[in-house]
This record gives sequence, structure tokens and C-alpha cells, in this order.
Amino acid sequence: MTQPRIPVGIMGATGMVGQHFVKFLQNHPWFEITWVGASDRSATRKYSAATSWRLDGEMPATVRDLIVQDCVPDNAPRLVFSAMDALFATEKERAFAEAGRVVVSNSKNHRMEPDVPLLVPEINADHLKVVPLQQRRRGWKGQIVTNPNCSTIALTMALGPMKQFGITRVMATTMQALSGAGYPGVASMDATANVIPYIGGEEEKMQQETQKILGDLTSDGFRPLDAQVSAQCNRVPVVDGHTVAVSVEFRQKPSVDELIEAIGKFRGVPQQRNLPSAPPQPVIYMTGDDRPQPRRDANRENGMAVFVGRLRECPVLHYKFIALGHNTIRGAAGAAVLNAELMYTEGMLD
Ligand SMILES: NC(=O)c1ccc[n+]([C@@H]2O[C@H](COP(=O)([O-])OP(=O)(O)OC[C@H]3O[C@@H](n4cnc5c(N)ncnc54)[C@H](OP(=O)(O)O)[C@@H]3O)[C@@H](O)[C@H]2O)c1
Repeated sequence: MTQPRIPVGIMGATGMVGQHFVKFLQNHPWFEITWVGASDRSATRKYSAATSWRLDGEMPATVRDLIVQDCVPDNAPRLVFSAMDALFATEKERAFAEAGRVVVSNSKNHRMEPDVPLLVPEINADHLKVVPLQQRRRGWKGQIVTNPNCSTIALTMALGPMKQFGITRVMATTMQALSGAGYPGVASMDATANVIPYIGGEEEKMQQETQKILGDLTSDGFRPLDAQVSAQCNRVPVVDGHTVAVSVEFRQKPSVDELIEAIGKFRGVPQQRNLPSAPPQPVIYMTGDDRPQPRRDANRENGMAVFVGRLRECPVLHYKFIALGHNTIRGAAGAAVLNAELMYTEGMLD
């Protein structure tokens, strides 16, 4: 006999990231979409009527006839993913947590709060232990757990296996895909055959989020990683996949072989527990001189792994390398679903 699946909702289900949630959750072994929420422009309409489907393939039949709800917790299931417009996410997500919902959010709004986990399950699964403090402090029966910004995921997954050598300084320069700007995103006159050396707020997010993710949980919150992190973020004419050129310095300089071995051996709680969306090998080292590349590599491993290549000496810091992650899968919807799978195995959805 098969187990009934857990009903889940998606706030912001009609938007770009919401659609990625819908697609990623099709045929999920544990979760079933039963509730979709959006703005009052969409509420009361069928999902198929309220949504301009922008992803490859047909809109899944399982959601077409769901009636879009106002983003209020009343009849929403206990587990709700959030892909809501950041302008409204702060209050709406709080209202859901206050009403006893488990909010697994992709929005930036709560990521840096001292009692909210900013989760990359392979790296900091233990940060979930802050949730009881969040509930006590705020008087919530529910909770909010977040995933990082899309470029931060690629950087932190690449640095995760290297943390054991004592990271002291990081310089990261991104080449970020157009899909990271949502739809319609960057105007074609700006994006075509061009590089835009500015993505509002992105550099600060990458710097702060990296320190929180790679930092430690303490009795009253988080102690950020004691390392300097500098990010420069650029939009490039790539459809999917954020590439990051990284230089890194360590307390104890390891050898190239030690770093590549650490990447190859790196596994986290999602792999130990065989979570449905976990890539068997979360960080994959590619030996080709010209890899990883977004068009060729971002979609491998269902878009859930991060690829690293070209690890070599750096004349300024110790080493430099290239990292690549799928920005809307591992960097958005897939990341949040993996977070929820981890939380399920922790008994946090009971
Ligand atoms: N695009 C990415 O790659 C990416 C990556 C990581 C994180 N994010 C974050 O994910 C979130 C969504 O991004 P997106 O690109 O998917 O944006 P989007 O396409 O503009 O979608 C926004 C969603 O929010 C809903 N919404 C707007 N106002 C609302 C309100 N007052 N109450 C309830 N729902 C409301 C919209 O519903 P209607 O259709 O009814 O307007 C829509 O479903 C943002 O916080 C963004 O920063 C995006």
C-alpha cells in the first residue's frame, strides 16, 4: 500500500519561481500540491487561467483546475512553499507562520534574521535547531525556514567541502543567467550580446548569506564564518545557470589534490538519508579545461548538483576555480523542496 502524500501549498504559484515549484513537485514521492496562492489579481481564478505558463512543456494537468487562493493561511495546508513577490513576503510569510504553517521560503525577506535558518542541507542541516528559539521568541506555532539567493548557493556548495581547511578570504565574480531576473526580466536590448555589471542588492546578499551559511549555530543565533567575502555580480546572456569565478585563501593552505579529494568525498545529510531530491554527489569536480559550462552542465543531475572546475593556484589568494549551479532549480525551487524533505525527516512537519 502506498502512503498518502503530504498536501503542500505554493504562495506566489503563478510567478516564475512558483511555476518552477509546480514543475519540480510533479510526481514527488512525498508531497502533493493541493493549494496555490497569489495576488488578488489571480485569486478565485483557475490556475490555468491565472497563469501564463513560461516553462518548457505543458502546464501540468494536476494544477490546471486548482482555484488560486488569496495568500492568507485560512485553508492552506501545513506546509507552504513561498515564491512570493519580495515586496509582500515579509508580512504574508509571518502571518502563515503565526497561524501554524511551516513556511519554506525562497524569498530574501527573512533570510538574515538571527532566528531563521538559511539552509543548504548538505552544509548546515544543524541550523534547523534554531527553529524552537524562533517559535519561542515570536510565539509562533509555525515557522519560517529559507534558502539562499541563487548565486550564493553555487558559491557555498563549492566552498562547503573546503571549509575544513579554514577559509579566510573569498573573492567571487558571478556571470548570472537571465532567468534569475524572473519574467520578462532584463530587456532584450540590454541583454543581447552584452554584460550588465550590476544586479541590485545581489553582492550584499552573496557576501552576508555566505558567512551565515558557512557559520556556526550558537545558543542565541548564528556566528558568521570568520572570513572576508567579496562578491561582484554580473548579468550575462545565458538562459539558465549561474557561473561564479572564485579565489579563496585558507588558514592552512591545502594542496590541489587535497581540495579535489575533499570535493569528491563531500556528502551531507540529504545524501545520508537518501532524500528524494538530493543529488547523489552534491559537488562534482570536472577535469576538462573548459568546464563547467552553463549550457552543457547546469541541467545535469536534475539541476541539483553544483559543478566545480579549473582549480589552480592564484597569485593573489591561494587558489582559484569556477563553480556553476542551476539558478532556478538548485538556486530556487529545488533548494526549497530539498529543505522541506530534510525537515520532514526531522519530524518538523508533524
Ligand atoms: N527568479 C528567480 O530566479 C529567483 C531566484 C531566487 C529567488 N527569487 C525570489 O522568488 C520570489 C518570486 O520571484 P519571481 O521571479 O517568481 O517573481 P514573479 O514572477 O513576479 O512572481 C511573483 C508572485 O508573487 C505573487 N504576488 C504578487 N503580489 C502579491 C500579493 N500582494 N499577495 C500575494 N501574492 C502576490 C504573484 O501573483 P500574481 O500572478 O497574481 O501577480 C506571483 O505569483 C521573489 O521574492 C524573488 O526574489 C527569484
